[in-house]
Amino acid sequence: MKDLTPDRAALDPIEIASRDEIAALQLERMKWSLSHAYENVPHYRTSFDTAGVHPDDLRTLSDLSKFPFTVKEDLRSQYPFGMFAVPRERVARIHASSGTTGKPTVVGYTANDIGVWGDLVARSMRASGTRPGDMVHIAYGYGLFTGGLGAHYGAEKLGCTVVPVSGGMTTRQVTLIDDFKPSTIMITPSYMLSVLDEFRAQGIDPRDSSLEVGIFGAEPWTNAMRTEVEEAFDMHAVDIYGLSEVMGPGVANECVETKDGPVIWEDHFFPEIINPETGEVVEDGEKGELVFTSLTKEACPIVRYRTRDLTRLLPGTARSMRRIEKITGRSDDMIILRGVNVFPTQIEEQLLKVEALAPHFQIELTTKGRMDAMIVHVEATRDSSDNDSKAAAARDLTKKIKSVIGISADIRVAGAGGVARSEGKAVRVVDKRSKA
Ligand code: DLL
Repeated sequence: MKDLTPDRAALDPIEIASRDEIAALQLERMKWSLSHAYENVPHYRTSFDTAGVHPDDLRTLSDLSKFPFTVKEDLRSQYPFGMFAVPRERVARIHASSGTTGKPTVVGYTANDIGVWGDLVARSMRASGTRPGDMVHIAYGYGLFTGGLGAHYGAEKLGCTVVPVSGGMTTRQVTLIDDFKPSTIMITPSYMLSVLDEFRAQGIDPRDSSLEVGIFGAEPWTNAMRTEVEEAFDMHAVDIYGLSEVMGPGVANECVETKDGPVIWEDHFFPEIINPETGEVVEDGEKGELVFTSLTKEACPIVRYRTRDLTRLLPGTARSMRRIEKITGRSDDMIILRGVNVFPTQIEEQLLKVEALAPHFQIELTTKGRMDAMIVHVEATRDSSDNDSKAAAARDLTKKIKSVIGISADIRVAGAGGVARSEGKAVRVVDKRSKA
């Protein structure tokens, strides 16, 4: 793989500024953001008043912990435009996340917000090893989802040639990559695996492809998956993180030279980690729920938003800004099986150790008698599709899951192509448990 470390001279000076300088900027911006939210969004005025706090109470960054949290339900209850802090006419774009139940969460952006977002995605792409003039294949979905358009504006801003493919039509994805020869692809990691299969199906060696960098996000993925994809394509696989409530892709991004967890763009978003049970802020380095406060957003300022993503804050390495440990799961994705907490990424990690199995998987939860049971649907690679190999692979994975995670899972090995494919965010868990 090529060394794609960006020139330090190309970075935004704040990325490598001193911690004091970053903290001073954060405090100034946080004061503005809290006042802006309080003065212009009735929801924040009420929630601050109820908690007995006022934006003037923020004197230091740690004073933020006095302010109330915002949760997804707050955004839903303000559907559609109740969280906007500017008149609707000043909102240049709207995105929404569907969610599985109820109304979607709607977010808005002023022209200035769109500009900042583009800058941050451009910064994220540069950190990933993409350079001005590179061709970028975007396979994140375009539409209300923030992935496609978010990536698109950033890629344009960096000065790239953008190919706005969106998700789906996997055969065409491969044809376009083969014909246009992009150096960067932006795509969910699970969809990248489908693209990988399609390369092989078309008889094209993925290692011969033009791809040098994959910027993968929108769902959890493991370092084991990174190794798998990097080896398959002979490319760098870098992690991009974000969420629509906070902005979209590009809230944090890994650096290609370190690949040690996404760097939070702290000049625009202030992170905290809390104990999800008590709501108390925990020390850097301790694991908990990630919470964000926006520092510059005009249309939809967000105060102490509980992401449900579980991770820890780590000190800066390639940049001065802090990192998050690669996100292994959301509190909503956690499966409690007979008292043991399990995240789908833990299954992914074990699956990738079994050579005879492809990296695709889906977990089905069922009720067996009065107990919950877990079935893991996986599939054999083309070379290991005979019954003996499949049975041996099932035994191997069962054993690994039992000894490392501590649960008994029923492994069902299908033939190649037998597990449902993702074209965007993968559905990792299908819950068929009877609700008592
Ligand atoms: O998924 C934004 C995005 C698009 C990020 C493209 C990266 C690339 P939402 O649909 O609002 O926004 O979903 C946000 O997805 O809270 C995490 O649970 C999960 N997520 C996003 N990026 C990562 C990542 C977009 N790199 C939710 N690793 C977040 C793990 C991620 N989980």
